[in-house]
Amino acid sequence: MPLSNRQTLTQYLIDQRRRFPQATGDFNALVLDVALACKAIAKAVAAGALGGALGSHAGVEGASVNVQGERQMNLDVLSNEVFLRMTEWGGHLAGMASEEMEQPYPIPGQYPRGKYLLLFDPLDGSSNIDVNVSVGSIFSVLRAPDEAVAGDLQERHFLQRGCEQLAAGYALYGPSTMLILTVGNGVAGFTLDPVLGEFMLTHPDLRVPEDTHEFAINTSNQRFWEPPVQRYVHECQCGREGPRGKDFNMRWIASMVAEAHRILMRGGVFLYPRDNKEPKRAGRLRLMYEANPIGFVMEQAGGRASTGRQNVLGVQPESLHQRVGLVFGSRNEVDRIERYHAEPGELDIVTPLFHERTLFRAA
Ligand code: AHG
Ligand code: MN
Ligand code: MN
Repeated sequence: MPLSNRQTLTQYLIDQRRRFPQATGDFNALVLDVALACKAIAKAVAAGALGGALGSHAGVEGASVNVQGERQMNLDVLSNEVFLRMTEWGGHLAGMASEEMEQPYPIPGQYPRGKYLLLFDPLDGSSNIDVNVSVGSIFSVLRAPDEAVAGDLQERHFLQRGCEQLAAGYALYGPSTMLILTVGNGVAGFTLDPVLGEFMLTHPDLRVPEDTHEFAINTSNQRFWEPPVQRYVHECQCGREGPRGKDFNMRWIASMVAEAHRILMRGGVFLYPRDNKEPKRAGRLRLMYEANPIGFVMEQAGGRASTGRQNVLGVQPESLHQRVGLVFGSRNEVDRIERYHAEPGELDIVTPLFHERTLFRAA
C-alpha cells in the first residue's frame, strides 16, 4: 500500500530520471540534498523567536553586511550554512555560489567533487524575517565545466546564461512550506508534510495564466522609474477608464519568492526594473541566483521573465553578483512591458499625457 495517493519528491525525481536511462542518479541526489536544506531552514524559520535566531547578525564591528552591502540577518547566515553543509558532502558538486558569500565556494578537500554547480539565495526577503511574513530560498543548478571539476574553482565557471540551467526552483516558507521545482520539463509544486517530513506532489503541472489584472512593484521608487515603466503602471492605475479598459489590483510583499509564488498560482506581473535611483546599478535583484532561477520556473510554466529589454535567460553574466532589471509573470504583460521599452516613438506621445494626469508626478 502506498503511504498516500500522492508522489513524494523522491518518486517524482525517479520518474523524471526515466527520461534519461543513462543518468547516474547524482542529479536527483543533489536535488534531494537541496530539499533537505530547505526543510532544515523551514524548521528554523518556523521556530521564530523560540529558535533564538531572529534579528541582525552581529559582525566584528556591529551589524554584519554581505557582499551586496546589505545588512545580514542571523537567519541569512544560518540558512547559508545549512545549504553548504547539506550539499557539500555528497560528491555531486564542483562548487557553490551564494548571495551571502563574496567568493565562489570550493568543495572541501575531504569530499569528492561532482559535475554540478549550485547557486542560491539562501533566504530571500530578509526584511520580512522578524515580522513573520513569508520568506523563501531560491536555487539554480548548472553543469560544471570540466576544468572546474578537475582544477581550481573560478568565478568564470559560474558565468553561464540562464538558459543553461539544468534545474531551478525555490522553497517558500509560508503558512505551509512548499518546494517548487523545474528540471526542464514543466514546473511541479510540492507541499511539505511536516509529520512525514516529505515534500508531497500537490501541484503537478503549474501554469501561469497568460493574462492578468494584478501587478507588483515598489511604488516608493516611482520617481526613479524609466518612462516605459511609468507608462505601464500608469495605464494599470487608470483602470477601466484608461487604455487597458480594465481595473488592476496591486500587491507588494517584499519577498520576491512569495510574489513569484502568487504569480505562479494565479497570474500577475512583478517588476523590479532598472531605475535611476543608483545609476551605476543595473537593478535591485541579482541575476544568477534570483532572476535566472525564477526566470526558468516562469518560462517552464508558460510565463516569461525579462530585463525589460531582453529575455533574462539570454543575458550573458559578467560577474557572480551582478544585478539586473527584472520583470516576470503572465506572458502577455511581460510582452507588453518589453514592447513599451522598445517603442520610444510611442512613448513621446504617451508620456506627456501621463504627466498631466498622474497624481504621483515628480516635482
Ligand atoms: P534579499 O532578502 O535576498 O536581499 O532579497 C530581497 C529582495 C526581494 O526579495 C524583494 O522583492 C526586494 O528585495 C524587496 O525590495 P524593497 O525593499 O525595495 O521592497
Ligand atoms: Mn533575495
Ligand atoms: Mn537573501
